[in-house]
Amino acid sequence: MGFDVYNPHEYWYEHGKSYKEQFRYNKNFELQESLVIDYLRRNLASSSSFSTVLEAGCGFGRITRLLLTNFPNIREYQAIDLSPDQIKNAKEFTRSVVEAMSDNPLNFAVSDIQSFQSERKYDLVIASEVLMHILPSEIEKVMIKLVNMSNHHVVNIDWYEREKPRKMAPHNFIHEYEKIYRNIPSVTEVYQIPIANKGSWLRSVNTKQCIFHALTKNSG
Ligand SMILES: C[S@@+](CC[C@H](N)C(=O)[O-])C[C@H]1O[C@@H](n2cnc3c(N)ncnc32)[C@H](O)[C@@H]1O
Repeated sequence: MGFDVYNPHEYWYEHGKSYKEQFRYNKNFELQESLVIDYLRRNLASSSSFSTVLEAGCGFGRITRLLLTNFPNIREYQAIDLSPDQIKNAKEFTRSVVEAMSDNPLNFAVSDIQSFQSERKYDLVIASEVLMHILPSEIEKVMIKLVNMSNHHVVNIDWYEREKPRKMAPHNFIHEYEKIYRNIPSVTEVYQIPIANKGSWLRSVNTKQCIFHALTKNSG
């Protein structure tokens, strides 16, 4: 199916149907997952401030399963995605992990970030490869919403390069995440960590992605 003009809802509704089937793990995803876990372990888990999670745009549950497997302290995990097919696949993909737990912390909802309503805040709000698909006209509003739904931490993992390539697919954007976080009054600190591994030239991997981490002074 071709999309001349990027309409996020139409695009992801349609792509959600085949996303999992077409997904292939590669060395970029391996590095991304290992650096994200390592980063969360070193910077969030040690402060014991991380037992409730909101994941926006969970897809087929790749990061959901990764976090639940690596952080047994999670007692509540709300995962949302606008695609009903992705949510269906995510339930299946996380089933064995959840069944092995005494209390099921995981709750799924079909919803976009923009219309998701929550009366409570989460210790960690996380979005992996989701904000890069938000329209430039909406990105600030969406990031403010994510920050407002967090008690402490907001983490997004997204494509970032200082120099924008001349040609980009219509559904991909490079947003100025760090700058946007810094302009939100409740954000106190912001970190940007490149997902790259400088090994020998044979082993070096550069995903052209970064982990963006904002700390907030929200509470409640
Ligand atoms: C590239 S996939 C990433 C999936 C998953 N986070 C991962 O890293 O494997 C992007 C996902 O974000 C979802 N998505 C896009 N825009 C969204 C929005 N505004 N609200 C909620 N989900 C959204 C899509 O349906 C899709 O499942």
